Amino acid sequence: MRLIALRETLLGEHRVSVTPESAKGLIQLGHTVAVEAGAGVEASFPDEEYTEQGVQVESDRSLLIKSADAWLAVQPPTLDEVDQLRPRSLLVGFLQPYEQLPLVSHLANRDVTSVAMELLPRTTIAQSMDALSSQASIAGYRAVILASAYQTKILPMMTTPAGTIPPARVLVIGAGVAGLQAIATAHRLGARVEAYDTRPVVKEQVESLGARFMELELDVSDGEATGGYAKAQGEEFLQQQRALFAERLKDFDIVVTTALIPGMAAPKLISEAAVDAMHTGAVIMDLAAPNGGNCELTRPDEEVNHGGVRIFGPTNLAAESARGASRMYSRNLLALIRHLNGEEGELHYDLGDELVAGALLTHRGEVMNPRIRDRAEEAGL
Ligand code: NAI
Repeated sequence: MRLIALRETLLGEHRVSVTPESAKGLIQLGHTVAVEAGAGVEASFPDEEYTEQGVQVESDRSLLIKSADAWLAVQPPTLDEVDQLRPRSLLVGFLQPYEQLPLVSHLANRDVTSVAMELLPRTTIAQSMDALSSQASIAGYRAVILASAYQTKILPMMTTPAGTIPPARVLVIGAGVAGLQAIATAHRLGARVEAYDTRPVVKEQVESLGARFMELELDVSDGEATGGYAKAQGEEFLQQQRALFAERLKDFDIVVTTALIPGMAAPKLISEAAVDAMHTGAVIMDLAAPNGGNCELTRPDEEVNHGGVRIFGPTNLAAESARGASRMYSRNLLALIRHLNGEEGELHYDLGDELVAGALLTHRGEVMNPRIRDRAEEAGL
């Protein structure tokens, strides 16, 4: 099969879906790999490194798409690009199925098989392919690195002949994949870290990373739903949570928020009043910005300066650490292709396989995911 990767065209997207290292693995599986010239440059993978691994580097984007048996992507393609794909070819990427319904129905109409990495079940067997987690980890790391650069305080305690400066205080709200990596990064930089989550089970993980678990006077005894995800809390609970954070946030120099229930708008946890009470120079890094933000004042991909408190709502942080993020993402895709690979080097879609059935977005002219199919039908697509 001919697998291709193209230069990503979305503004701010610097990742590449196939690295020279993952290309080697794909070729070992029996495939031919071709990439668009310059595809890896922004992630610090020059064309020569691909050529050395036996990858074909080509400059005609349109010809690449037309010749592909499988297109491994980061971001969703345009409708025009889908038109150029051959029927029965495969498209894999973060296809944003809930936001991109016209694309989904177009893929089905064109009989393109597509896998949305967002739909992959987060089970043990799928861990090596779990791109949401690998990229959230990078985002958590990057959030703290950026926040420390924007912060005028230094993070570690420093003892000098002129006296001691205490460590900065960091609060992480939401201790899932992104949050845990944010905690670990802030701790490594020497900050005093606290974290809060509505799932009491994460207390131990937070503490094992050297942080303190913040206790709030809230009943979270049923905070966990099935599959290890958090349960959505009612508005009364969120109101109480906002009020408690309004009292506590003023002690912190950096607040990283990552709270989310999958498939829902991000809960609003930081009110304007809470920001008013924070000290000038404090930084809020709101990772939930793509889902509306955990802070009332967050604006996606903008900086808001509210009385000297700087609030950032980055929506694609992993892309800013493009080399590391691409290495992880490309390995996730390699693991997926390995899972789909048949003995003769062709790809198999076993619908009885929980992982395949979960991640397939379109196949044989149908939208496979029932929730997305319903939404597409509701939208008249
Ligand atoms: P996750 O599902 O692993 O973690 C979310 C955490 O929020 C869970 O631990 C959950 O218990 C917690 N939570 C839910 N409601 C809460 C509440 N009311 N109070 C406190 N905690 C609460 O998700 P993951 O993969 O860590 O992603 C976290 C967020 O980061 C998501 O919003 C995701 O979209 C976002 N993200 C943002 C990126 C960016 O560039 N901005 C990149 C990658 C992820």
